[in-house]
Amino acid sequence: RTFDDAGIFAGHTVLVRSDLNVPMDNGTITDRGRIAASAGTIRTLAEAGAKVIVMSHLGRPKGAPDPQYSLAPIAPELAEAIGRPVTFAADTVGDDAKARAAALSAGEVLLLENLRFNPGETSKDDAERREFAAQLAALADDFVSDGFGVVHRRQASVCDIAELLPHYAGSLVRAEVEVSDRLLNDPARPFTVVLGGSKVSDKLGVIDNLLDRADNLLIGGGMVFTFLAALGHPIGSSLVETDRIDDVKAHLKRSEAGDGAARIVLPTDIVMAEKFSADAEHWVAESAELESTPAGASALGLDIGPDTAQTYAEIIAGSTTVFWNGPMGVFEFAAFSAGTKAVAAALTDEGRSADIDAAKRLTVVGGGDSAAAVRSLGFADDAFGHISTGGGASLEYLEGKTLPGLDALG
Ligand code: 3PG
Repeated sequence: RTFDDAGIFAGHTVLVRSDLNVPMDNGTITDRGRIAASAGTIRTLAEAGAKVIVMSHLGRPKGAPDPQYSLAPIAPELAEAIGRPVTFAADTVGDDAKARAAALSAGEVLLLENLRFNPGETSKDDAERREFAAQLAALADDFVSDGFGVVHRRQASVCDIAELLPHYAGSLVRAEVEVSDRLLNDPARPFTVVLGGSKVSDKLGVIDNLLDRADNLLIGGGMVFTFLAALGHPIGSSLVETDRIDDVKAHLKRSEAGDGAARIVLPTDIVMAEKFSADAEHWVAESAELESTPAGASALGLDIGPDTAQTYAEIIAGSTTVFWNGPMGVFEFAAFSAGTKAVAAALTDEGRSADIDAAKRLTVVGGGDSAAAVRSLGFADDAFGHISTGGGASLEYLEGKTLPGLDALG
């Protein structure tokens, strides 16, 4: 259930589950994307006269308060994003939260402390989770699920609470599901999927489910080397998941057999480095000859090469629907960021081929890492059709799995 008229919440106390799990570096937020994306639902509810209680997790604390994971620094950021004051409760279901929740007036917003400071939030024990959910539910009249990034988790504030309160999907969850459904069920063609990141094991399910839906599947990032190893190429000291080589071979075989399966495109060249560091000596090598020069088997691949970047950019530019998850290389190091930049640029409207209809084009940047990558490389959010807030959640949705947090809203 979604809500089209937030007016139904006027005067109600509404618990909103957001995903404000933003990347932090020594207490400083390094990417505000999830805060910005969560603002719409909260602002809409506050403007409609609801008393809004926002709840979220941050990081993976071990079921007890841990200052490095406090949501306190997020409260002023959220206030700025929604253009209204946000008060902060130092607990989730304790005296402070209860008193502050009871004192809320229409249009006011309260942020609770990190849900995962309570062991009930992530407990595998149904009764313990339900007990925590009941304590949360006692704070409010309605529940709005808007933390798309966490809907793949069976947790108290995501699933169990929906059994206890009238529940609705928020506008972020709705938008994310609509975009993902379009990718899965109705992609305007050509449809290209670009997958990168370090681990092929994280992407096998998505490859499996999208291979028969997409036209092109472009592979980059550390996962390339498991593909190259599957083809029998030497890969030096590059990342590899040897226990996944057989899975990769099976996908390559399916692709080669045609019969409606996507074309899997692998890099033809790679930027190799003598070691994993920002200032490492580096050079470009053909994908089939990664050990040839100059560091032999001790070299490792850290980015797709320039020819590959150009080929991928051309395929993406000429695609009407593009889903991209995972950087093409170690973009945090300038010397190994060119592949990721080229792919990102091709997803923007400026990168689109003249023969691709702008009105039909949908480009989706999926996953926290990819979103942070495009922002850190200087691209604006509105340069892309959609930047997903879900990392694991969006991948699991595209794998075709049932997500417990969405199931709970059904
Ligand atoms: C994420 O960052 O993918 C979500 O916030 C979920 O976090 P989790 O993997 O710690 O459950």
